[in-house]
Amino acid sequence: MKIGVIGAGVIGTGVAHRFAQYGYDVSVVDIDPGKEKVMRRNIKNSIMGYNLVNGGEKKVDYKEVLEKISFSTELESLGECEYVIENVTEKIEIKKEVYLKLDSICNENCIFLVNTSCIPITKIAGYTSRKEKVIGAHFMNPVPMKNACEVIRGCYTSEETIKSVSDFLGSAGIKPIIVNDMSGFVSNRVSHVFMNEAAMVVQDGVASPEDVDAIFKECFGHKMGPLETADLIGIDTVVYSLDVLYEYYHDPKYRAAPIMKKMVDAGQLGRKSGKGFYNY
Ligand SMILES: NC(=O)c1ccc[n+]([C@@H]2O[C@H](COP(=O)([O-])OP(=O)(O)OC[C@H]3O[C@@H](n4cnc5c(N)ncnc54)[C@H](O)[C@@H]3O)[C@@H](O)[C@H]2O)c1
Repeated sequence: MKIGVIGAGVIGTGVAHRFAQYGYDVSVVDIDPGKEKVMRRNIKNSIMGYNLVNGGEKKVDYKEVLEKISFSTELESLGECEYVIENVTEKIEIKKEVYLKLDSICNENCIFLVNTSCIPITKIAGYTSRKEKVIGAHFMNPVPMKNACEVIRGCYTSEETIKSVSDFLGSAGIKPIIVNDMSGFVSNRVSHVFMNEAAMVVQDGVASPEDVDAIFKECFGHKMGPLETADLIGIDTVVYSLDVLYEYYHDPKYRAAPIMKKMVDAGQLGRKSGKGFYNY
């Protein structure tokens, strides 16, 4: 089956990798032609890392995975897809432009999975003529390693769409956890508050990023600290997501920490740029 993935950034790369590894033909679209090389390199490195740790019978052939993935800068290449997973930048005006165009390109049965950190699914659905076929799928990073996904039911998402998407995710080993629509859903409405506050703690000189994260890992038993998580997600995406939450709830608890805004201005975006709260 052919599926579409729009956006070959941090999360789109993981989504393309996961579904290609589970045998889907994946058509990736990104406006930046330079993203193809980076995406292919990151997928290859990710599989080689996995093989090093797991090896044996579980070994994955990175060439086979990469062969299942094609790349284009044109949304028109997605005309035949049964599902399209959109992963473009967390800015409503960018997503809006994509959906207005996508709606006229894809056949009427195609289901749109919106991968967003915080933007309400009902709002996105309103940019299409298929509101009942638009659903949120908030994938977890790194997608090839995470076997659950927060699935968001918009105001108009049909039960048929929920069933179809649950089966689709299940076919790639991903368990859907279905929640209702409201900015940030469950995971980011909660997690962005503690990532933001952790950044404020560093900004106020209370502790270093290492010590903040050590408290979460060694005292609370978390696998990753909040600042390592922010670096993994991308500091720009965290700030854009906080802006969306702030705009939606008008609650000052979502005001993005100035230290992270400054990091975005400086291009210190976390793992993807080589520097964030940590150096990579
Ligand atoms: N990073 C994460 O851990 C994570 C997790 C779940 C969901 N998300 C969500 O996924 C989306 C993407 O996040 P990301 O971290 O991958 O961001 P990113 O900045 O790494 O990648 C975004 C990609 O979208 C591309 N793009 C921008 N405009 C486009 C357009 N009009 N058409 C096609 N491609 C376009 C960019 O060139 C870029 O490659 C956001 O909505 C984010 O909130 C991110």
